[in-house]
Amino acid sequence: MTDASADNTPEYVRVNRANWNERAVAHAASPGYGLDRFLADPAHLSNVVRFDEPLLGSVDGLRGVHLQCHIGTDTLSLARLGAQMTGLDFSASALEEARKLAGITGDTVHFVEGDVYAAPSLLGMHEFDFVFTGIGALCWLPSVSQWAQVVADLLRPGGRLFIREGHPMLWAIDEMRTEALIVDYPYFETEAPLVDEEEGTYVETDVVFSHILTHTWNHGLGEIVTALMNVDMQVTGLVEHDSVPWNAFPGQMDEGDDGEWRLSDRPERMACTYTLQAVKQ
Ligand SMILES: C[S@@+](CC[C@H](N)C(=O)[O-])C[C@H]1O[C@@H](n2cnc3c(N)ncnc32)[C@H](O)[C@@H]1O
Repeated sequence: MTDASADNTPEYVRVNRANWNERAVAHAASPGYGLDRFLADPAHLSNVVRFDEPLLGSVDGLRGVHLQCHIGTDTLSLARLGAQMTGLDFSASALEEARKLAGITGDTVHFVEGDVYAAPSLLGMHEFDFVFTGIGALCWLPSVSQWAQVVADLLRPGGRLFIREGHPMLWAIDEMRTEALIVDYPYFETEAPLVDEEEGTYVETDVVFSHILTHTWNHGLGEIVTALMNVDMQVTGLVEHDSVPWNAFPGQMDEGDDGEWRLSDRPERMACTYTLQAVKQ
């Protein structure tokens, strides 16, 4: 018999996992994630990985782990570039969709269910040549220092981190204010989460969600870089981009041919995402 009171799962994990379990199913069915394109073309890559490729370089033959892999579209794309990929996520529904996709396309990817902070104990210490993550991943974690330690623990010496992520300045802006860019949320990491209720999601869907509560945190760019330096990761690249792969500010952005969204008016005002690379010493 299970004693519910013995469940030490933090509240933010329970709340966010319920939200993601629901969203994963809707995302897999949405045109935004375009799963049919992976079936139609065995060389198809997700928009995210296609954008990342020039900075990522070759991953052919490397052992990679994709943290917070969601429904596996980026993980599978990395496998298609020749990497031996493991995807980790705490959402059983997301992994069910990911395994279904890889099963149909025939791509070889290993998916593991678990919390990011437990990744080294689940996947092994220093087993990987690279860690790939981002695009709405860090904001679900309360401590960027703890995340950096996970990255360092997963990588072999000389292994590298590749992250393209929503810029902390982007997360600080209230996307509901369509008349201008209004900074309304913390830029820096705070102890308390931002508790929110979001009825929709970032891709088009008709699904009506019931688990709409989320707990998130921002992490400043300096905090992220410092957290990596504190675990002996040498920063080898930091590039800020004027674009983001979803419509982050509805009514104020246009989609480009590359599937990225930029401010319609003077996109040079705003860094929307960044690519950060670091090597384990
Ligand atoms: C926005 S999605 C990542 C998007 C991904 N880049 C993509 O589009 O495929 C965030 C993912 O983080 C996962 N997640 C959130 N908190 C987590 C945690 N503590 N441990 C593991 N996975 C987590 C969610 O289940 C979700 O699949």
